[in-house]
Parts: sequence; C-alpha cells; structure tokens
Amino acid sequence: MSPGVHTVAVIGAGKIGELMLSGLLRSGWPVDRLLATARRPARAEELAARYGVRVVDNLTAVHEAEVLAVSVKPQDAAALLDEIGPKVPSGKLLVSLCAGLPSSFFSRRLPEGTPVVRVMTNTPALVDQAMTAISAGAYATGEHLALAEEMFKPLGATIRVPETQQDAVTALSGSGPAYFYLLVEAMTDAGILLGLPRQVAHDLIVQTAIGSAVMLRDSGEHPVKLREAVTSPAGTTISAIRELENHGVRAALLAALEAARDRARELAAQAE
Ligand SMILES: NC(=O)c1ccc[n+]([C@@H]2O[C@H](COP(=O)([O-])OP(=O)(O)OC[C@H]3O[C@@H](n4cnc5c(N)ncnc54)[C@H](OP(=O)(O)O)[C@@H]3O)[C@@H](O)[C@H]2O)c1
Repeated sequence: MSPGVHTVAVIGAGKIGELMLSGLLRSGWPVDRLLATARRPARAEELAARYGVRVVDNLTAVHEAEVLAVSVKPQDAAALLDEIGPKVPSGKLLVSLCAGLPSSFFSRRLPEGTPVVRVMTNTPALVDQAMTAISAGAYATGEHLALAEEMFKPLGATIRVPETQQDAVTALSGSGPAYFYLLVEAMTDAGILLGLPRQVAHDLIVQTAIGSAVMLRDSGEHPVKLREAVTSPAGTTISAIRELENHGVRAALLAALEAARDRARELAAQAE
C-alpha cells in the first residue's frame, strides 16, 4: 500500500493527531492526501499554517477521506460519532487512536460493515520512536491492518496485538513515556542531593537512559543480564538496588500499571 494512495483525515488533531500528521508528512505522504479537523478555529489556523494541510469540518473529512483517524479524547468520542457516525459512507476505514475505547464503541455508531482498527501509539512519535500497537476490530481485514501499519511505521515501531490486550498496552507503552520522565526527574534530584549541578545531573541521566535503551533494544540480552553486568558483589549498585527493593519500586510499578489499565476501562465506560 503505497503512501498517498489513500487520503487520511485526522479527526480532532490535538497533540496525538498532530504527531500523526507531522509523521506522515515527514515520511513523504503527500500533503494533498491529508486532511485535518479541529474544534476551535484558532487550532485549525495553527495546523494549516504549520503543515500546509487542508483543515475542513468533520463531515467534509468523512466525505473526502478514505481513512478516518479519530484522535479526540475518549470523553469527546460519543459526541463526535453522533455527528459523523451515520454519515460515514461504506468502504471507509476508521482508525481509532482513543485510549481505552473498544472498537465496538465505534462499530455500534457506524453503518454496518465499516471496518475499525484500534491503535495505541505514544508521544515519542515526535522523534520517530513511537511504539504503536495495532488491533483489528469488526470487519477489519489484513489489508486494513497493513494500511494502519503503513500509516504508523514512519512514527517508529509497530506491533499487532489482539484487541483484548489494548488496555494493557495503554498502561504500558501509551502512558509509558511518563514513567520514564518521572524516573529521570527523580534521578536528577538524587544527583543534586549528591552535590551535582542540575544540568550535569540531567545530562548524565539522559545519556544513561539513552545508552541503556539502545542496549536493551540491540543487545538481545535479557534486562536481568544487563543489570547483573553493572552489579558487582558488595559493590555500589547492589547497595542502591537493596534500597529500591526496600522502597517497593517493583511493587509500585505493578500497582501503577494496574491503575492505568483500570483507568482506561473507566474512561471507556464513561464515554458510552
Ligand atoms: N497524549 C498521549 O500521550 C496519548 C497517547 C496515546 C493515545 N492518546 C489518545 O489520543 C487521543 C487524543 O489525545 P491528545 O492528548 O492528543 O488530546 P488533545 O490534545 O485534547 O486532542 C484532541 C483534539 O480533538 C479536538 N476535538 C474534540 N472534539 C472534536 C470534534 N467533535 N471535532 C473536531 N475536533 C475535536 C480537541 O479540540 P479542543 O482543542 O477544542 O479541545 C483537541 O484539539 C485520546 O483519545 C488519547 O487517549 C494520547
């Protein structure tokens, strides 16, 4: 499926929708094959000025685009679908980027037979390092999944998962960047506690995070192996790890991800 064959409309182009637009443009998707919609005129002007993309109303987008990429907040999805759902002509593909919302939420509000693909991406899309999980909803064929992959590959890595795993994906990689930023923030503070200037602490930990991430991705080693290589007997690292275990960091992560998963379910229930 070559770029530009399909016209993609990003419906509700906020933070994530804009990441998608800019990623598609960077990958060579022709600007005349992209549409965007926004709720506020100021936002529409901003998108048009920044990307040269045509910003239209929702119904024009539904009429003109073959692929409708819905990127409104979950709580705004029902109102949007009340507006566009009955007007979606047959043969369009709806790709939902909305956290938590099952594909059935859309199917119930779309004409019978409309294919739906559910995706969960994340903010490193801004630097082409997103992790995007893609699931088939009702009527979605392998070709629809391949088209969704084509749209998200320029933004980073993609993976196909059964839709039943999407709330877990949301908790892990959708919200995941925030956990890493929190860790970097806390470790920078720890560096300051130990007497390092803030900028030095920041630079040390950011490069350490990048190096560790590249090793995790490229070495093929299990994280335990990589950690053991830094953990010498009676050394400094094991003293730190004992404190991390004493303070329940591992248990905190298990509980945190469960909370994120539960919140995704709550948002979906509230959106109904
Ligand atoms: N942010 C993340 O890290 C992340 C990660 C993965 C997935 N997601 C998912 O991506 C979706 C968007 O999140 P976001 O952070 O990008 O939110 P956002 O910045 O608020 O973007 C949503 C945009 O949709 C617009 N909108 C709402 N209703 C509309 C309508 N009926 N017609 C046209 N435009 C409409 C909003 O307009 P206003 O400006 O007027 O509000 C806003 O600009 C959410 O469902 C979220 O779950 C987000």
